[in-house]
Amino acid sequence: MKIDGKTKVIGIIGDPVEHTGSPAIHNFLAEKLGDNVVYVPFHVDRGNLAEAVRGAYGLGITGLNVTVPHKQAVMAEVTELDDAALEIGAVNTIAVSKKGYKGYNTDFSGFMRQMDHDSVIAYNREVIMLGAGGAAKAVMYALQKTGASKIYVLNRSKSKAKEIFGKSKNVEILGFDEWEKIPKSPDRICIQCTSVGLSPHDDECVIKDDAFFDLVETGVDLIYVPRETVFMKKLRERGKKAYNGLRMLMYQAVASYEIFMDREVPAQVREELYEELDP
Ligand code: ATR
Repeated sequence: MKIDGKTKVIGIIGDPVEHTGSPAIHNFLAEKLGDNVVYVPFHVDRGNLAEAVRGAYGLGITGLNVTVPHKQAVMAEVTELDDAALEIGAVNTIAVSKKGYKGYNTDFSGFMRQMDHDSVIAYNREVIMLGAGGAAKAVMYALQKTGASKIYVLNRSKSKAKEIFGKSKNVEILGFDEWEKIPKSPDRICIQCTSVGLSPHDDECVIKDDAFFDLVETGVDLIYVPRETVFMKKLRERGKKAYNGLRMLMYQAVASYEIFMDREVPAQVREELYEELDP
């Protein structure tokens, strides 16, 4: 890496941020594309967010990814928001704009591109969403945009799910123990949006009852560590299709990079990145 007087700076703000894989991804892209830019992690405490964003703008930092716990709070610190970020109510990317930063949600676009890549078509289909946290909000927006005919949301806290998705179109909210209320039919898409099954708790799955998986034709787990979760295993054992969230991770990073650098990442470089993530 060559750093000179023209090197741009991009990065990520979060707390914690030490575990992040984003610098490796973005610096890989910068190197492959020959862009004079460096991506660095910034640990920003909750109380320092406003100062951090103002300081970043003052320093001319081109753009930042935004992670836990700032994805909502950062919305108050930007001067513009794109439509998806506004609708979802969360921002994971900010990029320099006229008088400050503009906020985007590339979790949404990343999920859309993963669905497209894996040919998981939600249009006019029934979908079961497990979870109602931050990631689920981006998924819900994508499913609504794609025209899913009905979305069952199953969450541990039903009241929280109602608060978040109660007003969404064609949505029914259930507890995990109420999954049998979903009419029997094997052709649904199921998106696993909870953190259950994430390493080191690899042997966990938010739905314990195996019969649940008969309701599903294709499953997508947003988790990518491990590469095959129990959720995915249970589907594959039944001959169903199952994907992890690695492509969504890759696509959201690529979408952020494209916003930061105002350029397209060619498909070949994207696939080289995917190969690097999943050798
Ligand atoms: P993210 O930004 O990754 O979506 P989040 O906003 O904290 O993270 O959401 C985590 C999701 O996983 C939520 O749906 C949460 O359920 P609650 O809304 O009831 O909290 C779910 N989750 C986390 N741990 C869980 C557990 N042990 N059992 C069931 N659901 C769990």
